[in-house]
Amino acid sequence: MDKIRIVGGRPLEGTVRISGAKNASLPDLCAALLSADPVRLRNVPEVRDIRTMGRVLTALGAEVEFRVGGEVQVHAGRLTSVEAPYDLVKTMRASVLALGPLLAREGRARVSMPGGCAIGARPIDLHLQAFEKMGATIGVEHGYVEARAERLRGAQIHFDTVTVTGTENVLMAACLAEGETVIHNAACEPEISDLAELLQAMGARIRGAGTPTVQIEGVAALHGAEHTVIPDRIETGTFVAACALAGGEIEVRQCRPDHLRAVIDKFRETGVRIEEGPDNLRVRAPRTLRPAHVTTLPYPGFPTDMQAQYMALMSQASGSATITETIFENRFMHVGELQRMGANVRENGRVAVVTGPTTLSGAPVMATDLRASACLVLAGLAAQGETVIDRVYHLDRGYYRIDEKLRGLGADIERLS
Ligand code: EPZ
Repeated sequence: MDKIRIVGGRPLEGTVRISGAKNASLPDLCAALLSADPVRLRNVPEVRDIRTMGRVLTALGAEVEFRVGGEVQVHAGRLTSVEAPYDLVKTMRASVLALGPLLAREGRARVSMPGGCAIGARPIDLHLQAFEKMGATIGVEHGYVEARAERLRGAQIHFDTVTVTGTENVLMAACLAEGETVIHNAACEPEISDLAELLQAMGARIRGAGTPTVQIEGVAALHGAEHTVIPDRIETGTFVAACALAGGEIEVRQCRPDHLRAVIDKFRETGVRIEEGPDNLRVRAPRTLRPAHVTTLPYPGFPTDMQAQYMALMSQASGSATITETIFENRFMHVGELQRMGANVRENGRVAVVTGPTTLSGAPVMATDLRASACLVLAGLAAQGETVIDRVYHLDRGYYRIDEKLRGLGADIERLS
């Protein structure tokens, strides 16, 4: 039940290094279930969700070894179970990514239904429909998905809605299916391309990953491989927003600016000065922030995982900005806490209008989900006085030592254990 205490008003300066991407590492870890050989991943962030996925894989019988410096080896030589238990899935819905690999390799999977979460209902119906199209029989009993298939067969999969983990689940399963699978309206996130790169290194036949149409030719078996996970684009965007809000000038290293096109363009629209290098960004806060409207969209659009951080930024812009959330139906949980700090935000369904600049004042606030907690950290950096954020376990799920990294940039921030 750690808390984080921030005293705002200090501009940031110096260099920060970005960790590996949580949302690439999670499917990459599950991909190891597809082979009996060891898979070694580098640049894996040491965050809570990665540990949870380690426990899911261990529960299935895989040997999982966490090594220093963000290296993880998974060896799923012989699986002893096909069940991803409720106790783990309820803490991290990404555990559903074990479903495709288990079904493809073992012909059976028993995965707890993830249920809803703070940001929305988040059903997995599209995942299940796709596996049925690939020949699996799917049932839901006692809160668990029961899936069976002698051997999955290739199919034409059309996703009604773009789904990131849905695309990843089908992509993994199709690698061992009989024949060709084509995914239409696939998600194009960089995390999908990262997963495909690992699968290809394991011997998979994939074309078009990162585009809306992905073709996979199934093979009989996959072998082991080594792979370095891409940097976390959402962590990168979060630090750009931190500098823009707190003031100052920083360098963000070990990132991929090309994965953040929509975010960098939007920040520039608000007046933030950003110089790009191949794997770094030099960010300078403007004297005055301009308001800019934003709508969250699937990649390459503006990511929903940056919406809350962007709202904190817009609370300090000179004028009004409209933020439209199109991905999740309940992703404004941070609004109430921002209002408690003095932000002027009017919410109407999936649209929020933020008017600034208002003086933020430090307050005790509560984190409700991963990105909402990042938003409150950023607001705390800009606020007058002390902010204490409760339930920071949300933050630790996806950010590696964000308090230490910000302290390294000169912020007055500490963790209260
Ligand atoms: C991934 O979640 C990310 N998580 C999320 O990041 C991210 O917000 C989201 O993609 C969107 O970019 C991981 O990669 C582990 P979706 P995912 O399936 O795959 C609906 C973070 O902060 N849908 O792309 O679960 C769904 O309800 C997290 O790191 C169905 O209706 O999201 C949503 O409205 C939060 N049926 C939309 O599609 C389905 O079967 C997009 O969801 C699947 C999805």
